[in-house]
Amino acid sequence: MSPFPARGILSSAAFCAAIAGFSVALASGFDLPTKRTDLSDADAKRVAEVTRPTTDFSKAEQYEAMQAGGATSIDPVTHRAFSHISANIPFEEEQNFKLGNALFKKLWVSAPSSTQASDGLGPLYNARSCMSCHVNDGRGKPPENGATSLSMFLRLSRAAATPEEQRVIANADVLNFPDPTYGHQLQELAVPGLASEGRMAIRYAEETVTLGDGETVSLRRPTYSATDLAYGPLNAATTISPRVAPAMIGLGLIEAIPEADILAHADPDDTNGDGIHGKAAIVRDHRTGKIALGRFGWKAQNATVRDQSADAFSNDIGISTPDKPGPHGDCTQAETKCLIMPTGVQKRLGNEEAPGPILDLVTFYSANLAVPARRKASFPETLRGKQIFYESGCISCHVPKFVTRRDSADKAQSFQLIWPYSDFLLHDMGDGLADGQQVGLASGREWRTPPLWGIGLTQTVSGHSFFLHDGRARNLTEAILWHGGEAQKARDAFASLPRDDRQALITFLESL
Ligand code: HEC
Ligand code: HEC
Repeated sequence: MSPFPARGILSSAAFCAAIAGFSVALASGFDLPTKRTDLSDADAKRVAEVTRPTTDFSKAEQYEAMQAGGATSIDPVTHRAFSHISANIPFEEEQNFKLGNALFKKLWVSAPSSTQASDGLGPLYNARSCMSCHVNDGRGKPPENGATSLSMFLRLSRAAATPEEQRVIANADVLNFPDPTYGHQLQELAVPGLASEGRMAIRYAEETVTLGDGETVSLRRPTYSATDLAYGPLNAATTISPRVAPAMIGLGLIEAIPEADILAHADPDDTNGDGIHGKAAIVRDHRTGKIALGRFGWKAQNATVRDQSADAFSNDIGISTPDKPGPHGDCTQAETKCLIMPTGVQKRLGNEEAPGPILDLVTFYSANLAVPARRKASFPETLRGKQIFYESGCISCHVPKFVTRRDSADKAQSFQLIWPYSDFLLHDMGDGLADGQQVGLASGREWRTPPLWGIGLTQTVSGHSFFLHDGRARNLTEAILWHGGEAQKARDAFASLPRDDRQALITFLESL
């Protein structure tokens, strides 16, 4: 898929409808807008010009260093670099950000407790706060030296087994089917008096890869299993998918990218024959029940920051919210003791352990963490690396820029030129990265292209440099060498570069 595909997402008839400004029916029969409705013709032309990938690498582009537009943070780079509020948030709203931050850090305790407004943890859970996994609002990592995994866990589910089950997935009513005993994910922790579900075990096997210039790199290939299972074996059909917590920056801006501009890069049938498909994740907005474009999570399974946050409260911490009301979180019918543990619901505060205003504030916080300004964007070495990034085909998926919608409800996210380096679409990344787990329309080989902004600050913020959905890559070079499937050509282009050029590309990534 070129950055400017000749056509949209479906048949040529659909394409004609698209350029005429109609919405097109997706494969599954749903409509999503394929033309922006928030812009005048003159603005639409300006947006097309400014988002066209550059061909001039002699200097940095205008505004390039301010990679999140007016929301970009120019605070000094420290381990708190991902924890700043978007720079253009009005002063009156800063208080909500601070309250949201306190709730993001809050350690929930098991019910009943003396600190009533903080109880309701679990009964099964992976961590006691959002911040335990999104440490410093940055990314998580795989456990090292046999420690309990905190910022990474296994999702459990199986694909459809009957035509009726296929129908509910195609209709986006569910994403897949949980394990009958263990539910949607393996919770390694439980409140006192209840057995936790088990543990994630990882084995790594080192494999040597030889690059074009003869240099060798060792990749570690992981194998995952669930061990010490307290409630019997997993269902034979259950697949396990490892996930590390991603960084939390720029999420509101990602939500403000018009659907049409993301769909414009989709090419599920690869009609332009470049080997790159790009498939839209079609999900439902949890609150409205309406079809929406999935953008968040490693398989783009959630359309909004709010939906992802409510899921996290329920599955990761075991806290109910108005959007996900069950106070027993991910307990299943098979986990009978779990279902009778006390909950943290207090009627005087509402029907949930975390009432609506708490979810609102945490969502506001999560949506407005600033993306830091780029460093050294105009240095010659960086610009050379940028050119190699473009010429190696990385931008087929890591799409450089978008302009957010003009009519965004949140003014701070409105009409910003942003540089996330992602198309937010699903791609087949080959056997090496496949987890075998279907999530909605995403197959067991497909992953959403992750945004790359801020990636160069991983070590500074998180104190490690583990990348990819399961943190298997120990540095950026390994992350690139794991690319397969639709990205095989780009990976091979990188692997055949001379050392200096590979280093320049990495320098560019480190400047993001
Ligand atoms: C146990 C660890 C853990 C906890 C606790 C946790 N998260 Fe996450 N978070 C993750 C993982 C793992 C993902 C990726 C999920 C996926 O791909 O399915 C994620 C993804 C997200 C995303 C989407 C980011 C993106 O780039 O797509 C948001 C937003 C988010 N979490 C918010 C929260 C909030 C808010 C809380 C607290 C209510 C929270 N998380 C608690 C592990 C955690
Ligand atoms: C076909 C689409 C595609 C192409 C082409 C592609 N990528 Fe990716 N990239 C992805 C996807 C999808 C992932 C996430 C894979 C995973 O986590 O299993 C990813 C992950 C990454 C990551 C790790 C991100 C993180 O947050 O952990 C880096 C770095 C990266 N790509 C760089 C590159 C570079 C450099 C190139 C060009 C040589 C490239 N990619 C080409 C789709 C692509």
